[in-house]
Amino acid sequence: MIPFVADLVSCGFFGWVGVAVSVLWLLWLAEEVYRGFMNFVWSRIGPKKDFVKTYGKWAVVTGGSDGIGKGWAMEFAKRGMNICVISKDEFNITEEIRSKYPVEVKYINVDFSNPKVYDGLEKELSQLEIGVLANNVGMFLRDLELFFNTSRDNLDKMVEVNVKTVVMMTQMVLKKMVPRNKGLIINIGSLSSVLTFPIRHSLRSLQEFRRGVLLVSRS
Ligand SMILES: NC(=O)c1ccc[n+]([C@@H]2O[C@H](COP(=O)([O-])OP(=O)(O)OC[C@H]3O[C@@H](n4cnc5c(N)ncnc54)[C@H](OP(=O)(O)O)[C@@H]3O)[C@@H](O)[C@H]2O)c1
Repeated sequence: MIPFVADLVSCGFFGWVGVAVSVLWLLWLAEEVYRGFMNFVWSRIGPKKDFVKTYGKWAVVTGGSDGIGKGWAMEFAKRGMNICVISKDEFNITEEIRSKYPVEVKYINVDFSNPKVYDGLEKELSQLEIGVLANNVGMFLRDLELFFNTSRDNLDKMVEVNVKTVVMMTQMVLKKMVPRNKGLIINIGSLSSVLTFPIRHSLRSLQEFRRGVLLVSRS
């Protein structure tokens, strides 16, 4: 027996507890290392998945006309998926994707701070075989302010855009993915779900909520 383990075991009950905790910790560490390797190393050097075959023809990216969402849209197009971007402003995303990749592009103009957009959106998406949904859209307040000073209007918008969008879009798309038994849903999180910044108050709980939706939809 390894001397360290033998020492622990010789302590009786608490020794065994120590062994159990150490084993669990090592398993957790191994899983983290494995995930890190798969995400950051193997995804770059390993064979590329055929996204269309694996997940379906269309990738839907909320807030896909700019920032990180635009990056997702470009990457999916590069992998041969048709792209559907949903945002408030097109920023020529349709032309940009079409000029680079031979895929179909659909743009849907929606302001997610309006809670009444979902029926129309569901109709617009009903004809697409959605393989990937990237729940990317998110907003934060430009002016840093304390929770109790934030206007109700801004709090409402944050919940609509950062929370409700994820719930509604995930449900809408999952309904179609489950019968096909394939699909991928990506929820963009944030460091603010792990760290607390007082003047970024709402974001932590909202980003954490996204993780919860992901776990529910996975189950
Ligand atoms: N940037 C970071 O450092 C960072 C870090 C951690 C997590 N994130 C997360 O990553 C996601 C994307 O961040 P980003 O920095 O790329 O954001 P961004 O540059 O501000 O882009 C946001 C996208 O969402 C769209 N959008 C914003 N409000 C909308 C609304 N009410 N209705 C419809 N579309 C709307 C924007 O389109 P319009 O311009 O047309 O409104 C744009 O396409 C967010 O969920 C954010 O929380 C970002």
